[in-house]
Amino acid sequence: MEQLHRFSETIPPTRSSEAATQRRQRPRLRQSPLHFTLLLLSLILLFTTIPNGASAYKPLSDNFLRQIPAADDGDFDIHTGQLLAPILIPRVPGTEGQRQVQQHFVSFFRKNLPKWEIIWQNSTSTTPATGDRQIPFANLIFRRTPPWTKPGQSGLLTLVAHYDSKMKPEGFIGAIDSAAPCAVLMHAAKSIDGYLTQMHDEMVKLGEGGTPEMDMGVQILLLDGEEAFVDWTDTDSLYGARSLAQKWENTPYPAKSKYQNPLRQISLFVLLDLLGTANSVVPSYFLTTHWAYKAMAAVESRMRRLGLLQSKPTRGAFLPEADKTADRFYPVGMGDDHVPFMYRGAPVLHLIPSPFPMGIWHTLNDDGAHLDMPTVKDWAKIVTGFALEWLDMMEVEPEEAGTTKEKSGKAR
Ligand SMILES: *[C@@H]1O[C@H](CO)[C@@H](O)[C@H](O)[C@H]1NC(C)=O
Ligand SMILES: [Zn+2]
Repeated sequence: MEQLHRFSETIPPTRSSEAATQRRQRPRLRQSPLHFTLLLLSLILLFTTIPNGASAYKPLSDNFLRQIPAADDGDFDIHTGQLLAPILIPRVPGTEGQRQVQQHFVSFFRKNLPKWEIIWQNSTSTTPATGDRQIPFANLIFRRTPPWTKPGQSGLLTLVAHYDSKMKPEGFIGAIDSAAPCAVLMHAAKSIDGYLTQMHDEMVKLGEGGTPEMDMGVQILLLDGEEAFVDWTDTDSLYGARSLAQKWENTPYPAKSKYQNPLRQISLFVLLDLLGTANSVVPSYFLTTHWAYKAMAAVESRMRRLGLLQSKPTRGAFLPEADKTADRFYPVGMGDDHVPFMYRGAPVLHLIPSPFPMGIWHTLNDDGAHLDMPTVKDWAKIVTGFALEWLDMMEVEPEEAGTTKEKSGKAR
């Protein structure tokens, strides 16, 4: 790692396009007395940037991991935290609480992240608890794609949590279910935004773009109506997710677009749910996305080794199953917001503990006071690191803190 890191300081970092890599490296290789070493290193670089699934994947350096901002009390204090506190209220669809948290999300993005597109996807439905009344469900989509991309051109890392809360028991807050995951995603958006701007600006200057790796974007889905109003059934649950998946599948992009519809644009559907209690373990559920699980587990274990996380889980990690072998996967039928998307072919990384946090889950104990703050903050950091890595941000690695050496920057 350390070697690769130094390498990227002396040779302009490149996008993961092979052609670009060769174009920029060749002159150096010819003049350099370190010809052989560089050749070796460039081979390593080539192999570490081979697309895995739909996207390039180059691990963040230790330096970059160290510079990922910690989630602080200013954002996560349960009474005053700017991101989390406003979500810790009952927010049942059709009530004032629902409207308030929607406004909280929208004004956060409008004010702090103006480059993110804000999309509402609304629907209504009756529920078994509310008779003939049409209950409103509103999904919120916050999306950032490279400025040169057309609709349907960008593959999207899709980070998801639900923001509604359960109707019963009365006064239910749903701190892990899923206020804290929503705040974690807001933190991730805020933490990657500046790097996205920098990368897009540099790429525009270089006239780059047009490959799937270069055109990658990111979206955050805050979904409504996940909870059942009475008892979980196919029709009394997932109101928002079912509506959105269907809508997206039925909204084609123009002929010959890279992706046929917004559903196909999902390069990975990462669903956070029930996160925020200490010692919960998130297994790897799906063999098809186990490689993504492993990538996130690697971010976690590297952060722990570098002393960047605060929690001390008894199993040593939130994501302890990186070494799970193919024969140990079996079908899991867990109902959650991923289902309507997975059913339509989206690859899913499901970040939900097993077992569910008992004594907390779906009880009045699931409130701010029962959150384990080091756990919540660590999830914010891990998800941010994973998103930065997925979006290939080593391109815009910040300087090492405390050094004054000249920044190598990108090829000009
Ligand atoms: C969706 O509903 C919200 C309120 O729940 C409203 O503010 C918004 O304007 C609606 N958007 C669309 C596109 O209908
Ligand atoms: Zn729930």
